[in-house]
Amino acid sequence: MSDSQAAIPKTIVITGAARGIGLATTRILAARGHRIVMSDIDGELAVSEASAIGSGASGFALDVTDREAFREHLASVEADVGPIDVLVNNAGIASASPNILAQDPEITERTIDINLKGVMNGTIEALKLMEPRRRGRIVNVASLAGLMGVPGLAAYAASKFGVVGFTESVRMEFDDSGIGFTVVMPGPVSTGMMDGTSSSPLVSMLSPEEMAMGIAEAIESGKERVALPRSSWFLARLTSILPAGFGIKVGRWTKIDRIYTDVDGSAREAYERRIRR
Ligand SMILES: NC(=O)c1ccc[n+]([C@@H]2O[C@H](COP(=O)([O-])OP(=O)(O)OC[C@H]3O[C@@H](n4cnc5c(N)ncnc54)[C@H](O)[C@@H]3O)[C@@H](O)[C@H]2O)c1
Repeated sequence: MSDSQAAIPKTIVITGAARGIGLATTRILAARGHRIVMSDIDGELAVSEASAIGSGASGFALDVTDREAFREHLASVEADVGPIDVLVNNAGIASASPNILAQDPEITERTIDINLKGVMNGTIEALKLMEPRRRGRIVNVASLAGLMGVPGLAAYAASKFGVVGFTESVRMEFDDSGIGFTVVMPGPVSTGMMDGTSSSPLVSMLSPEEMAMGIAEAIESGKERVALPRSSWFLARLTSILPAGFGIKVGRWTKIDRIYTDVDGSAREAYERRIRR
């Protein structure tokens, strides 16, 4: 199926679809007539959100860090629902800490396991299914923290730089394969991930629906990169090409450097507990 055939319903697997950006993306795509498989480590929530959405959505338990489970999950979707047209590797976590030494080593490792290795697991297993039929799209959700450093989120930024590098590389490896790749780079989005964080006058917070609309449109149009909001993307690009000291000064001046280092612990507690399961 080519991307220009937006009107034809696609079978779309979305990881981390029980909440936040994944859930908002599911709602938009299901309303547009696509068949959405919602896969989340919180399987019960995925099932209940899918039944609230109604026809077109189904919920399943999946831990993206388990490569074999991911492979089996995609195989059973192909058997029960049909060939997968799109995989959205969206599941991710972000633990805030004053610096990398202050972060619990277990959560540092878990961040890389979910955000980077989970995306690689899904991409590789989906490619094995899509390559022989020469069609499909893989959408990997990175972050603007995949383009610029973010104090308080060093492991997270490492994982997201990894997702950007991995996706851009497989895009080149599979050029002319009929398979498309989209890398998504959101700025701050008002989901549980942002609970208790500080704000910066220069960074606007998107709603999950605004971000999800960007992802849904990219799936239907075949867009290769989605970075929102544009002003934050521009700032991220600028700090990556100018001397490092410039980024540090801009961070201090705009208070961007305090978003994840100056957090309200009690407002953030429930999120930090949830991602440690
Ligand atoms: N919210 C933001 O500000 C922001 C900014 C940039 C990028 N992102 C990225 O967007 C994606 C979605 O984040 P969100 O803000 O919607 O977060 P969220 O916490 O609202 O939703 C993430 C979902 O992923 C699921 N999940 C966690 N670990 C999993 C695992 N091992 N296997 C399967 N599912 C798992 C969670 O249960 C949850 O339902 C993430 O990759 C995140 O890094 C978010």
